[in-house]
Amino acid sequence: MTPYSCMTTQELEEQYAAVLAHYEHLKAQGLNLNMARGKPAEEQLNLVSGILTMLQKPEDCFDGSIDARNYGQLAGLPCAQAYWADVLGCKPSQVFVGGAASLNMMCDVVARAFSHGLLHSPRPWCKEEKVKFLCPVPGYDRHFQIGEFYGAELIPIPMTPTGPDMDMVEQYVKDPQVKMIWVVPKYSNPDGIIFSQETIQRFANLKPAAPDFAIIWDNAYSIHEFEGDYVPFPDIISMCEEAGNPDMVFEFASTSKITFAGGGICCMAASEANIQYFTDIFGIQMISYDKVNQLRHVRFLKDKAHTLEIMKGHAAIMAPKFKVVSDYLNREIAPLGIAHWNDPKGGYFVSLFAMPGTAKRVWQLCKEAGVTLTGAGATYPYRKDPDDSNLRIAPSMPPVPELEKAMEVLCCSLKLSALEKLLNK
Ligand SMILES: Cc1ncc(COP(=O)(O)O)c(C=O)c1O
Repeated sequence: MTPYSCMTTQELEEQYAAVLAHYEHLKAQGLNLNMARGKPAEEQLNLVSGILTMLQKPEDCFDGSIDARNYGQLAGLPCAQAYWADVLGCKPSQVFVGGAASLNMMCDVVARAFSHGLLHSPRPWCKEEKVKFLCPVPGYDRHFQIGEFYGAELIPIPMTPTGPDMDMVEQYVKDPQVKMIWVVPKYSNPDGIIFSQETIQRFANLKPAAPDFAIIWDNAYSIHEFEGDYVPFPDIISMCEEAGNPDMVFEFASTSKITFAGGGICCMAASEANIQYFTDIFGIQMISYDKVNQLRHVRFLKDKAHTLEIMKGHAAIMAPKFKVVSDYLNREIAPLGIAHWNDPKGGYFVSLFAMPGTAKRVWQLCKEAGVTLTGAGATYPYRKDPDDSNLRIAPSMPPVPELEKAMEVLCCSLKLSALEKLLNK
């Protein structure tokens, strides 16, 4: 195959006619396929459904002397705090175990920062003239939505192969209006990047002008390898402490992609002072999270080592799906030179960069042929991708034969939109 950039107009026109015919053929099949959100497949949910029967009798419902069925223990069952401390490498006293959604707790932290301020806030953020959030891009749409919802100005920070551009981050935090940065440090959403040790050190050693500057360290994919061995990852909480910034970081994780998505358990890990501050605040809105679910989860998952074994089961289901994506792109698109993409070893996404100026069109062509992708632009604040290039592929949910069909449609749409652009159609 010749790259499109080396073809004559005549050759491009011929390609266009052939690709259009292929696209019309696919469209006529009346497909209904979805690669929009990172949902575990049914097979993955079946893998962990032993959770449903972990607590059979009243006697099973105790963590030591604590009855999980009753009110109390707002920061979580001690066994659940110990579980997350094991997974994340921090201390149990630095863990607040919540309900089923880490996103809910992230949103709560932001909401309280605006209404009451964080531990070192001179005033609630709603009283500030302006509040700015740093947003590595491409990034997670729901992080951006929270910032937008509370009226923060969202500043894009480009991702590099080692994490966000730290020169920019260090520069921006000199502005006292910059109050927060949102990051997914391992298998970032959507790029699948693991932050380098240097990047993590630079995060811990930030010198922000705002005394209440906060890092949202969304470690949603901390043990989510689908290829190769588990990659150890440092504990950001002790690193911030050592750097003299003990209260600067809020780490989040959940079992949404370990057990049941939206039916698991989540946690916030932070300094003990922050955990105390937020336990008091959450105590206003909550008497107790669902400790029965916490107990069922800990009984089933046991500890980090056992959870890593379970993750191998997920990996065996996920890996062939990511292979379908990379095989299609390498075979159909790479020789044409019209897109590039990442090749993650964990997480839930493939980040695809279509020919600049075509991502929206690719999305629309896919949609019209019955394949739903995450909206073009969603990986940027205000849904504005300045290059109109990035698309997030979430291959976990469809079975392999459906995924192959969806990738055929996506590759065809990438070609068609590139040819339309090159031929000014
Ligand atoms: C980076 C990231 N954080 C958080 C979440 C949501 O997690 P939860 O279900 O715990 O709210 C997701 C889900 O896709 C995610 O990709």
